[in-house]
Amino acid sequence: ASSQQQQLIQLHEKAAEVYHHMLMNTAIGEAALDYLHKRGLDDQLIEEFNIGFAPNQRDFLVRVFQNESLDSEAFPNSGLFVERESEELVDRFYQRIMFPIRNFQGKTVGFSGRFFATEEISNQEQPKYLNSPETSLFNKREILFNFDKARSSIRKGSTVYLFEGFMDVLAAYHSGVTNGIASMGTSLTNEQITSISRIAQELVICYDGDQAGLDATNRAISHLQETSRLNLSIVSVPEGLDPDEYVKKYGQDAFVNLLEHGKETVFLFKMRYRRLNKNMANEKEQLEYVQELLQDLLDVDSLIEQDRYLTQLSSEFQISRESLQQQLYDLKRQRR
Ligand code: UTP
Ligand code: MN
Ligand code: MN
Ligand code: MN
Ligand code: MN
Repeated sequence: ASSQQQQLIQLHEKAAEVYHHMLMNTAIGEAALDYLHKRGLDDQLIEEFNIGFAPNQRDFLVRVFQNESLDSEAFPNSGLFVERESEELVDRFYQRIMFPIRNFQGKTVGFSGRFFATEEISNQEQPKYLNSPETSLFNKREILFNFDKARSSIRKGSTVYLFEGFMDVLAAYHSGVTNGIASMGTSLTNEQITSISRIAQELVICYDGDQAGLDATNRAISHLQETSRLNLSIVSVPEGLDPDEYVKKYGQDAFVNLLEHGKETVFLFKMRYRRLNKNMANEKEQLEYVQELLQDLLDVDSLIEQDRYLTQLSSEFQISRESLQQQLYDLKRQRR
């Protein structure tokens, strides 16, 4: 890494350290620490992920670094500060719980900060999470939350769990599922898929159980099928919960059980997903549903699986197996 890169990494490591100190050892961080404890994160996990707190002050980091000799470009290029009209730099993150984002080598290269509302400081029009901007260190297309720590257990089982948010990754990690990663609130990129494919054969999508999570799951499936040879399966979290809420409600053992034994095939996910916004009492919509699923069936490689689903469709909709089979052949020809 160039000396500029080195300096930027040092800036981030130092910032993470002081944010962590504020959370763990000061009165300013006390309420935030209580909040994290209430959410089920214990001190050991907070230490391991070096979680911190950025106080409600625009010159907190500015002051931390005021006596350091750094290149003049290091500050503006770090993403940790924003410029005011007066061209003065102020902290980007304030009144936020700070989650360091590490690159594949385990170096902190960015942050995601969760706005921490209190009685005095509430409902400012703040996004829930604020991330570092794209910088020479923090490449959003490549970064995967927790990939550095998860790598060895992903390799070992050749399986990776993909979550929507990093609170979900942390909840899984805390439950002993250490092969979880998240893509930081954006859809998966080709770069991320390539990195995952290098060390895993199976990818389990476990996004939030709400409509947004289901839609994102459906999009991720298409993208992954187009760009990788990963074996996919889906874990749908019930009751519209996200994984972290599920752990809170049902406990770690139930969650681990869900991850291990609640996997479904892509096609079964499609069967459930495609009927969500359809009125299945309506004949026309029923037929549309069957057509859509036949398209999905083309992506099923296993003949045994295909056979089983054809039987299932045939009996559920009282369509002869022969015509379904014929239609599938036709679709296959059209697709080539
Ligand atoms: P969620 O809204 O599901 O957040 O967004 P969450 O992970 O459940 O967080 P908690 O439990 O409320 O604390 C999923 C992911 O989308 C990104 C974050 O990466 C988050 O983990 N996101 C969400 C943002 O970047 N900005 C936002 O304002 C909200
Ligand atoms: Mn510590
Ligand atoms: Mn969500
Ligand atoms: Mn969520
Ligand atoms: Mn959540």
